[in-house]
Order: sequence, then structure tokens, then C-alpha cells
Amino acid sequence: MKLLQRFAFVLLVFAPLGLLAQQSGDAAMKIFIDGLMKKMTIDEKLGQLNLPGAGDITTGQASSSDIAKKFAQGKVGGLFNIKSVAKIKEVQKLAVEKSRLKIPLLFGMDVIHGYQTVFPIPLGLSCNWDMKAIEQSARIAATEASADGICWTFSPMVDISRDPRWGRISEGNGEDAYLGSEIAKAMVRGYQGDNLSENNTIMACVKHYALYGAAEAGRDYNTTDMSRVRMFNEYLPPYKAAVDAGVGTVMASFNEVDGLPASANKWLMTDVLRKQWGFKGFVVTDYTGINEMIDHGLGDLQAVSAKALNAGVDMDMVGEGFLTTLKKSLQEGKVTQRQIDNACRSILEAKYKLGLFLDPYRYCDEKRAATEVFTDANRKVARKIAAESFVLLKNQGNLLPLQKSGTIALIGPLADATENMTGTWSVAADLSKSISVMAGLKDAVGGNAKILYAKGSNLSEDSLLEERATMFGKTLHRDNRSGPALLQEALAVANQSDVIVAALGESAEMSGESSSRTNIEIPQIQKELLQALLKTGKPVVLVLFTGRPLALKWENENVPAILNVWFGGSEAGSAIADVIFGDVNPSGKLSTTFPQNVGQVPIFYNHKNTGRPLGDGKWFQKFRSNYLDVSNDPLYPFGYGLSYTHFDYGDIKLNRSSLKGNQTLNASITVTNSGSKDGKETVQLYIRDVVGSTTRPVKELKGFQKIELKAGETKTVTFKITPADLKFYNYDLKYDWEPGEFVIMIGGNSRDIKSAKINWTK
Ligand code: BGC
Repeated sequence: MKLLQRFAFVLLVFAPLGLLAQQSGDAAMKIFIDGLMKKMTIDEKLGQLNLPGAGDITTGQASSSDIAKKFAQGKVGGLFNIKSVAKIKEVQKLAVEKSRLKIPLLFGMDVIHGYQTVFPIPLGLSCNWDMKAIEQSARIAATEASADGICWTFSPMVDISRDPRWGRISEGNGEDAYLGSEIAKAMVRGYQGDNLSENNTIMACVKHYALYGAAEAGRDYNTTDMSRVRMFNEYLPPYKAAVDAGVGTVMASFNEVDGLPASANKWLMTDVLRKQWGFKGFVVTDYTGINEMIDHGLGDLQAVSAKALNAGVDMDMVGEGFLTTLKKSLQEGKVTQRQIDNACRSILEAKYKLGLFLDPYRYCDEKRAATEVFTDANRKVARKIAAESFVLLKNQGNLLPLQKSGTIALIGPLADATENMTGTWSVAADLSKSISVMAGLKDAVGGNAKILYAKGSNLSEDSLLEERATMFGKTLHRDNRSGPALLQEALAVANQSDVIVAALGESAEMSGESSSRTNIEIPQIQKELLQALLKTGKPVVLVLFTGRPLALKWENENVPAILNVWFGGSEAGSAIADVIFGDVNPSGKLSTTFPQNVGQVPIFYNHKNTGRPLGDGKWFQKFRSNYLDVSNDPLYPFGYGLSYTHFDYGDIKLNRSSLKGNQTLNASITVTNSGSKDGKETVQLYIRDVVGSTTRPVKELKGFQKIELKAGETKTVTFKITPADLKFYNYDLKYDWEPGEFVIMIGGNSRDIKSAKINWTK
């Protein structure tokens, strides 16, 4: 909107309210919203609390859509997952021209790991360990989404998970509260920037509050139950970090916490979130989260809607329980006017902060999308970030990187799988524009090498499983030839080549929402393909696609090189080629432990010691905490990831080994790139609190630095440690540190570390 038009809008719309212009500052906001709310009927207030999904609104037909009437009646506060400026403008017009008070709508979307330029799935991105890069990915996502009319994203998802059976582990940042908190802050900064009313920043929504990642048996939407000590120390910190970073909104999770679904849990939504953490934005439910409380067994729609409002939920996603029952509950004294007003106010404040009252079309500049979405510059950044998120799990005999010469056999159901590259939750992406491994490799080698392709097998022998795992247009183009025919073709291709690149693993929708698995191995048919390829005697590189840690014991024992590429986003194929041919030296480090088998789950690095820990170097001892059939060790530990070069760690040097009060400990270590290639290494700091008033983990991540080292170069990395780094929630949930002995550990992953002891008194 041109300036003059904007002014006219404000004048026309809000002059009757005596509010001529939007000023900055909380006081001005309060005056504005007080004035507006005085004019609002109870129905209009409840309308603000209502968030329907966009359904199938098509351009040019918004006014005849089912919900159009509701926009005009002021019965909608926002809409989500509607794409394009044209459609959004049309709907916004109905709200600001047809409704009595002309209150603009919020437009939300699941912009989870990029908009049209898609970055790696969050679990992959978290293996990057470069907070600037992660922030930049969110910044680009915000720029693209806002250029396309969106002002609110349902991200970051920060649910800690230690259970690879749970499909949504792919959407989070892994198992660690410290790393998860750093990422939560970076994402919020990236989306929201310094000024939410800029037209290229969007409001973030941290989700799913709380503990969704601890679903029993890894089955989605299942019950969670844990002690408050564990909750506060190990699961809640990333949500709190997002709140500390100023996140505008919070999404309630589906699961119950302490026997109450999050949406009805006052302790969670009010006592902890608002009173303890000082959250000032609004809380939205997850999709039909209120209605689902009927099935949870908490009463009918009126009862559960009242419970949600009483708990501190402000906005009702999709279910319309608030819209249709709260007036009755108000009349019956089951909720108060004040509660409705508070919820309405918090949503209006969000709109105010986004600048929508000043200009409801602030995010509707038709010209922006053409020059700001899926640009070469954005894609270049996505390619780099993806390449640095891949984790090299094994590289026997330096098989990788490959030469760009000779004949390369590219085999597997994920080799030419364009639509699967973005992974789960890529609602805004044009799937056909992603770069497949085949396209990436071909582009990289040009005329210098020959690439031969065969699919080799389907995703799974079970066509129904494949159907369930390839939804939302993410087809793998199931091949109807028999298994042996596909295999034979692959072997023929393999036999003509110098090296085999096997692109295997999961499809994009084999992880994500409602995609839990009890078997976390590569599907059997693909394993058989891999076995047959290995039997040819040609060197085999496994390019592994996955949205979760997989159990790869056999692969680790038999395949010489394994590169875990997660789902790398729209530029995945190019990034994979960059790493395979050594144009980028891999530097990703796992943010989740890989188990040896599914029976070890949950397995995580920051576990407790127990009263019967195993002796050093032992893997079985009678009457100790272990298994008969497998050691306690993970296959790949948290923080693990190889490089094409090698990093040697010196010993830890401390500025002092006895400390008192608020002194600072400097813990330094030298890291030398002793290989022949330049590379990046994430140096990780872990601390163990040896004696506590409650039991403490065997180690906890407390810092990390991703550094770049030229071949032969040595750098000294120093961590500055203060008592703040030693704090934890004790039995009484008091957040403090306790004096005594601590072990300082530094290394390139959570297993291979150097250590030193200190004593810290109060
Ligand atoms: C998911 C949320 C998502 C919402 C809106 C739900 O099913 O749990 O993560 O933001 O849908 O699409």
C-alpha cells in the first residue's frame, strides 16, 4: 500500500475509535487495544480466538468459500496454510472491508525448515552446530514466507526426543536440552528479527509445549509422564529459551502432562509459562487440540473448551470449541469475561506488533515474491547449509571423496527421488524443483564421468507401507517390476562401474507426524539390495536418507562409507554431490544418539550413572546395569561425525583447578588438523557434576564452538565457564549450583573426550 492509502485506511477504519495512528511502545498499544475492545461484542471477541485452516480456498473464490461469511461476521482471528499473496489479499480484504470492526487477520503457515527454498529437516539442520547458519536459514524462510503473504510460522519445533521410533523426531533438534536451547534462540531471532513490524519478519510459534517428544513407546500423540526434575532439566529448557528470546506465540502440545492434556493444563500454560517464565504472547492449541480432549476423557466440547480457556489457552486451532461454546460457559459462570478479554487482547496485541492495524496488507506486496522467493542466492545458502549438516558416519580407507571420473553406478529408490528431497513438512515447496541425487551428481561431474542409474528396489516390499510413507505428493514412483528384475538391472549397472553410490533409507514421509516405526532399520528389500551390491566387490558408498536415527549395526560392519544426508531440502542433490566429490568437507555432528538396535531405545548420552554402572571397558557384568545380548554403547554417540581430514586434541589446560564463588574457569584445548584437507570441527564441552543433592547426568553439553582449520593448522579453543553453567533444577525445583567436584570434558563428540577435574566452592 502506498503511504497515502495506508493513512486513509487507518483514518477510515479507526477514526471512529478515536485512534488515528499506530504508535510504538506498550502504552500506545494498550490505548489502541483498549479502545478497540470497548467496541467489541462478545461474539467478535470469541471470533478473534478462532483459527480455522484454509481448506481449499482458491484464488478468486475466497468470497464464495464456506468460511467467507465468518470473515465478514468477525468470527475468525486468523487463517493458516493458505498460500500466495493473491489469495491472502482476497481473504484479508473480506476481513478489513466486510467485518464490522475491520480487524485484520493473521496468516500462519507451517514454515518449518524453509519456505520454497527448503533447508534440511530440523533434525538434520541441528547437526550443523553453526548457530549463525541456523539463524540465517530462519531469516531466509521469514523473508520468503513474508514475501508471499505469511506473517506467522508454526516453528521452531523444539521438542526434545530420545526415541527414534517417534516420527516427529525429524522435526526437532535432537536429544539435548542445551543444543536445543541454542537452536531455539537462533530460530526465533531469524524469524522475528529485531522488529516484528518490518514486512520481512514473521512471528514465531514455539511448539509443541510441552514434552511431546517423550510419547510412550514412540507412538505419536501418546501419553507422556515424567518427573518434574527431569522435565525442568532435560525437556523444558528449549521452550524456555524461545520465550527468553521473545517468541511471540506458543503452541500447546497434543499429549498429556501429569494426567492433563497440555491444552487443559493450567500449571503448564499459566504457572510455568506466564508466571515463572514471563511469556507475554498468546498460546494457540495444536490442530483440534481442544476437541481431542473429549477423547482424552475430559468431558464434552463445552467442558473441554472452558478447561482450555481456564488453563490459559488463547486461540483454538480448527476445532471451533471456543467459538461455539464459550458464550454459554460465560453465561453459566464456567469462564469469566476477564479470561475471554485476556485471550482476545493477546491476539490483538500480536496483530498490533506485526503492524497489521497500520497496514493489513503489509505482507501482501505482489512484487516481492518474484524477486525474493526461491532466489539463486537463497538456494546457494541452502546448499551450503545442507552440505554442512550431513554426517559422515564411516569412511573406511578414505573411500570418500570420490573422483569426478570413471563410471559411477547410482542405485537405489532414493537416487532419483526429486519429490522426496525436502523431507517432511515442506508445505510451501514446489517439490518438482528440488535437486535429486542424480541431478546433483550429473551436474557436478559434467562430461568428466559417466553416471549409470538403476532403481534397484522399491522403498519396501510392502506396497501399503510405501503408500503410507509417500503422502502429500512425495511419491517414489513405485516400480511394478518384480524384486528380482529390479535387482538384476541394478547389478548389471553396478558391474559396469568403478564405484557404487547407493541412495537408500527412508522416504520423506516415513518420518514426521503420525509416522512412527517399531522397526528402525533400513527396509529389508533395500538391505538385500545393499548386500547384493557389496557382493559385486565394487566399493560402495551408502548415501543414507532418514528422518530419524536408524539402527545400522550391519551396515556399519559391512559398508565402507556411510554418509547420512537426512533430507537435505530443495538443494539436497547438489549438496550431496558437493560432499561426495569433496568440494565440501563434511562437518555435521549428530544431535541424537544412534542405537545399535531398537531395544536400546531410549538411549542418550546424558543419562544417569545408576547405582550399578558398568566397570570401565566392560560390556557385561552380572548384576550391573546392562543387557545380556548387546553392550550399552551406542552405535554412534551424540556429537559424532567424521571429516575428510583428522583432528587431534591436546590435553585440557585450566587457568585454575580450585575455584570459589563467581570466578571464571578458562578451559582450553588445542585442536590440530593433522590431515591434508581444510576442514571444520565442532569442539564440544561437557561437564559432570560429581556429587549433587539429586543424582546428576554422567555428562552434559555446556558449550561448543565450530571452528575452521586449514590442513596442518592448530588452534586453541577456550571455554569460559562460570557458576551459571553449573546450575540445575534441584529436588525442590530451585535453579542453582552446588559446590564440589566437577569433571570438565572436551572433545569432538560425547564419547571421545579429554577430561580434567576441578573443585568449586561457594
Ligand atoms: C501439527 C502441528 C502443526 C499443525 C498445523 C498439527 O497436526 O502437530 O505441528 O503446526 O498441525 O498444521
